[in-house]
Amino acid sequence: MTQSTVESIPSSLPLHPKEKARSCSCGSGCGCGSHGGAGHAHGHKGRGISKKFRRVHSIAGGIFGLFLAVHLFIALTANRPALFTRAAGGIEKIAHAIPGAEVLLALVPLALLALSGGYLLFHVGLKYNVDKCNRGGMRRFFLQRISALCILLFLALHLARFGLLAVLPAYDSHHAFNSTLNGVRQFWSSLPASHPLNVAVYGFYLLGAVAVSYHFSNGLMTAASARGYFASSRQTRTWGRLCVTIGIAFGVVGVLAWRAFLSH
Ligand code: HEM
Repeated sequence: MTQSTVESIPSSLPLHPKEKARSCSCGSGCGCGSHGGAGHAHGHKGRGISKKFRRVHSIAGGIFGLFLAVHLFIALTANRPALFTRAAGGIEKIAHAIPGAEVLLALVPLALLALSGGYLLFHVGLKYNVDKCNRGGMRRFFLQRISALCILLFLALHLARFGLLAVLPAYDSHHAFNSTLNGVRQFWSSLPASHPLNVAVYGFYLLGAVAVSYHFSNGLMTAASARGYFASSRQTRTWGRLCVTIGIAFGVVGVLAWRAFLSH
């Protein structure tokens, strides 16, 4: 039986004893592995809360995903510095022309993602061997949480250095390319770009780009099938293919954008 078939079984159907043993008896699908037994740490109240947090997380993730697409596309133009400076200037003009757009499309969703995602991460933990539940299998669910940790660290570094255009002054819009180059290659501005600490942060940015691409596309895929949005396994497969395409596109653009700052 394929994964998508397992996910699309309505919860009212009787499960094979093997599947039953591996599934959450309460149907929350959180994968925490402690439902129904003596280790039921959070009970059904916790289940309701995590369901709400998961919903908030996926809505905020969808909105932030749009911002991310624009952000990565602008970063991609860094392969031609003059183009990057123009593109960054254009985005800044739009941000000033529509007051609050940056806050609503980036800052608020990001804060909600970090809060709800942090809660879910804390709630589920990082152990590999959780009950399978309905998050695309143990390996994918584990990578989802590991990539979430990478995103948290990446965001902390990224925001500490650049902030958002409107919030922190570390980014100099008049010298967009050089300012970004310095920020990306020299997290510690008092140390040379070749210093191991700065090389480590720059290297970690590559992992961050890959992690967010995986987390976003895998999250879109598992959220839809876990909530039973699709009536047939064919629709589920089509959605899966679209999500994989989105993930690969984000990943390729992210890696090319990262590489643009390597050669300067
Ligand atoms: C800020 C740091 C983040 C943390 C700590 C985090 C954490 C998590 C965790 C633990 C899960 C698994 C939830 C579960 O099924 O129990 C998850 C799922 C998900 N994440 Fe994140 N995440 C973060 C950022 C993001 C970002 C930036 C995006 C989008 C660009 C995103 C989109 C998603 C989506 C769509 C899901 C699937 C939600 C669902 O199954 O309903 N997350 N995240």
